[in-house]
Amino acid sequence: MIQQAATPGADTAAVAGRVEAEDEAPAAHLRSGGRFILSHMRLWRWHFLALLLLVVTSAACGVGQQYGLKLLVDALAGPPGLGSAVLSALVLFLVLIAAEAALARLTGWLACRATVGVGVDLRIELFDHLSGQSMRYFAENRAGSLGQRITATAGNFGALINTFVWRIIPPVVDVAGAVIIFATLDGVLTLALVALILGVTAGLIWFGARGRPIHRAYSGEAAAIAGDLVDTIAHMWTVKAFSARQRERARLEAGFRQEAAAQRRSWLYLEKARLIHDVVLWMLAAGILGWTLRLWSLGAVSAGSVVLVASLTLRILHSSKDMALSLVDAAQHFGFIDETLAVIAKPSTVRDAPGAPALVAARGAVELIDVSFAYGPGRPALAGVTLTIPAGQKVGIVGPSGAGKSTLVHLLQRLYDVDAGEIRIDGQPIAAVRQDSLRDALAVVPQEIGLLHRSVIDNIRFGRPDADEAAIVAAARAAACDGFVRRLPDGYDTIVGERGARLSGGQRQRIGIARALLKRAPILLLDEATSALDTETEMAIQAAVVRVMRDRTVIAVAHRLSTLTAFDRILVIDEGRIVEDGTIRELRQAGGLFEQMWQLQAEGLADEPAMDAA
Ligand SMILES: Nc1ncnc2c1ncn2[C@@H]1O[C@H](COP(=O)(O)OP(=O)(O)O)[C@@H](O)[C@H]1O
Ligand SMILES: [Mg+2]
Repeated sequence: MIQQAATPGADTAAVAGRVEAEDEAPAAHLRSGGRFILSHMRLWRWHFLALLLLVVTSAACGVGQQYGLKLLVDALAGPPGLGSAVLSALVLFLVLIAAEAALARLTGWLACRATVGVGVDLRIELFDHLSGQSMRYFAENRAGSLGQRITATAGNFGALINTFVWRIIPPVVDVAGAVIIFATLDGVLTLALVALILGVTAGLIWFGARGRPIHRAYSGEAAAIAGDLVDTIAHMWTVKAFSARQRERARLEAGFRQEAAAQRRSWLYLEKARLIHDVVLWMLAAGILGWTLRLWSLGAVSAGSVVLVASLTLRILHSSKDMALSLVDAAQHFGFIDETLAVIAKPSTVRDAPGAPALVAARGAVELIDVSFAYGPGRPALAGVTLTIPAGQKVGIVGPSGAGKSTLVHLLQRLYDVDAGEIRIDGQPIAAVRQDSLRDALAVVPQEIGLLHRSVIDNIRFGRPDADEAAIVAAARAAACDGFVRRLPDGYDTIVGERGARLSGGQRQRIGIARALLKRAPILLLDEATSALDTETEMAIQAAVVRVMRDRTVIAVAHRLSTLTAFDRILVIDEGRIVEDGTIRELRQAGGLFEQMWQLQAEGLADEPAMDAA
């Protein structure tokens, strides 16, 4: 996976201005899900302010209807006849019903527009953060679950807005309206209502906060098993080839069951909250209605007021029925977005220094000064490597599997930061320049070519999006792929399949090389880029590369030593150190590791290092 995403341009393209700006000062809006959402809603602020206004007005019309009903009942209590009091109350009542419905539809329309728009912005920002992460990050996190997280964030945001618009704000307006109307009727009633509301709200918040870890545990489990499922599907060949269907099924089943247990805990917690809420609201209704009837019996309020209180109470009961659930839902959505931010927007381990200048790489000289690096605790992959490659030199790197050859190629691209020492290109330390400018200066053909699920021509053009067709075909010729590409069903327009699955390994490699050649960078890095080709094609390509890259630097990790004859210089790496350095002739005369490998390959016992290429 490391090599796959290390394709040229893959992580230079999107990491534009925004990520750099964040590297300078960790942005405040990434500290919590709430801030993150608000920062995006701010861009749509007029939409959301209008939305709020609509929701509140619509709910207020609902409360007003109850008042219209009261006026009607009070008018009915007078002498029979369709007098003006009855008619005006009726008209008020009907107009408010129509207004509530009309505003609700407008709300729906506006909520849709704003929510969907913000959903796009959210996903784009998350992708920006994600693509700015180091390769170590992508080795540690699964692509499936990262992708799912970004997609789900937009869904969560939509659900959050819907929850507020339809299930949280209307009951709040109902309650506020009820408090105002009750205040015109009776002080005790109002005080009791306010006290109860405060109590219920505090209870809900407390309950919600207590439930958060439970819901969080569930969403963690859900993400883990979903990622696992995608991983298994992605590697179905491995599963089948090793007759592991039953094993994998059992493993997934255990995961699903674990997730189900967490889901059950989270769900039942919500049911408990609902139950408590229902009981409290029932007591509220009983108390309010009882008290109002007492006031009526004392002649303090009219029959219309009793109807008003009854219908308002019912309305509150009804609209806040799911209040507990909604608040918990909202907290859950916030929690999910919090977690997504923690995973996706965490500061990248490989960062641009504040105000870092762009790399000026005109010539392509490479210098390593006492570089050491370890992937984790334990034996370092490179130890104290010092090396000077003048601009334009063609350097071959050889060595046993696991020696650190690919690591050197990774470090040159700054996929990882070195632990000690320094790497310079044309005299500039790569850690001090902008990463995108560094990667602009490098064309890389990694050990495993990551082709995108697009056409052949799009994959080659990925190296330089503005390249014209002639340049693309020229690069394809140099990489010896023009011939076989033309024989594909749709020629250059053939879709290569996921990760290039419809091509042979050697075909993928050649497209990878064409893509890198097209980029025309001052430095070309090849990591066993021709390992899947026959010797003849390999030699042809090596010669073409040396020709095309005449005055540029080429650093090529090779496993077939005989193909390196066109190279100026060979480095032999073993156990993270450069053990030999010189021309082929010099190294063969020295009779060291290189000569041993040469003899082995010449005898045809060969390819031992290649077969085991890590
Ligand atoms: N992503 C990684 N995480 C941890 N260890 C790694 C990683 N990649 C390589 N290594 C280890 O670093 C050492 C050098 O690997 P590498 O540079 O890939 O060797 P090679 O010379 O075969 O290309 C090996 O011991 C390998 O196991
Ligand atoms: Mg390697």
